[in-house]
Amino acid sequence: MNSSASFISFLLLTSALLGSHLLLSRAQPTPPIVRGLSWTFYRSNCPRLETIVRDYLRQVFRNDIGQAAGLLRVHFHDCFVQGCDGSVLLDGSASGPSEKDAPPNLTLRPEVFRIINELRNRIQRACGQVVSCSDITALAARDAVFLSGGPDYRVPLGRRDGLTFATREATLDNLPFFGSTARELIANVARKGLDATDLVAISGGHTIGRGNCASFTERLYPNQDPNMDQKYANNLKRICPTTTSTGTTVLDIRTPNVFDNRYYVDLMNRQGLLMSDQDLFTDRTTRPIVTSFATNETLFFERFAFSMIKIGMLNVVTGTQGEIRANCSRRNPTRSYLTTLVEDLENVSF
Ligand code: HEM
Ligand SMILES: *[C@@H]1O[C@H](CO)[C@@H](O)[C@H](O)[C@H]1NC(C)=O
Ligand SMILES: *[C@@H]1O[C@H](CO)[C@@H](O)[C@H](O)[C@H]1NC(C)=O
Ligand SMILES: *[C@@H]1O[C@H](CO)[C@@H](O)[C@H](O)[C@H]1NC(C)=O
Repeated sequence: MNSSASFISFLLLTSALLGSHLLLSRAQPTPPIVRGLSWTFYRSNCPRLETIVRDYLRQVFRNDIGQAAGLLRVHFHDCFVQGCDGSVLLDGSASGPSEKDAPPNLTLRPEVFRIINELRNRIQRACGQVVSCSDITALAARDAVFLSGGPDYRVPLGRRDGLTFATREATLDNLPFFGSTARELIANVARKGLDATDLVAISGGHTIGRGNCASFTERLYPNQDPNMDQKYANNLKRICPTTTSTGTTVLDIRTPNVFDNRYYVDLMNRQGLLMSDQDLFTDRTTRPIVTSFATNETLFFERFAFSMIKIGMLNVVTGTQGEIRANCSRRNPTRSYLTTLVEDLENVSF
């Protein structure tokens, strides 16, 4: 009697929960949140966090909207190599090359590391040392998208900063290569639990920002890629007259600084900059996804936000693991009993 009553209330409760979940997901689809992260992580100890980030970045982008691209890319690289643990922010040490230095590296926009540290300092002044550099990077990427005209979306928070950074080999192994085919990219992202729709959606990050000649001259010389519009190719050849040219050009020729769906329109017109972009339209598997995003920006925005939340949860460090860095560029100094003792001894003059 008692147990059947509680079973019925269990059924009622689960159907109520499922029902409300369905309603929520219809309003704004979000992937399930991994253990240790939460939508309200800093609600009590840093309630102004998201306002601080957005206000400062609004100011930064007013002077240079290009930094939005840099900030979006740095979060992607952080998450794809070792996980979203802020390791991409660490300066290289004697122990090995950092994610920052290894090619494909982020030397295109060195300022982004200064911007993230400035955000960290402002947050520290308001809340103390409670917000991780990896969470700041995730929020900065979201605001880079939103303040460039893209979707606003909520970011699950509670990441902590990792204690190590990846080797050059691990970096190269994990970051997708600009010369990849869609087939290769699908295999690369499958290792992270992402599918072809995630791949096409996150590649839409290339609706803002720039690329170096080195990232696409292989499509021009010695032979021109047949999947490239002739006028577009002629333009690129003017920007990069040889394979060793050092110029840069925009990733989305239609609206280079606006976060919109024109990147997919570029692809449909064979005006994608990188091989890894254009092949998304050439490949029969990904082509219909490209077309659907090119014709429906709302759909692209929804899918982009969904997939960004997903990549923002890759191998996160949570709970009591890792640390909250005092400086995003380096690990906190270790303060074990032994270290303290040795430091004290070193300070003693005999
Ligand atoms: C799918 C595989 C991807 C490949 C092969 C790739 C490759 C590249 C390459 C080669 C560049 C130009 C870098 C240079 O020439 O210095 C670039 C730039 C960029 N990437 Fe990606 N990327 C990929 C995915 C993504 C994703 C998922 C995002 C973010 C959601 C992203 C955001 C950006 C941005 C914003 C830039 C411009 C950076 C700037 O202007 O500073 N990329 N990417
Ligand atoms: C950054 O990558 C480029 C090629 O993408 C390479 O030429 C350069 O040496 C790299 N920089 C560092 C510091 O490793
Ligand atoms: C575009 O996508 C949105 C979001 O998925 C959908 O609700 C809408 O019906 C689509 N519009 C068209 C014209 O297909
Ligand atoms: C953070 O660390 C970097 C690299 O070690 C250093 O150049 C910078 O001055 C530090 N910033 C602060 C505020 O201490």
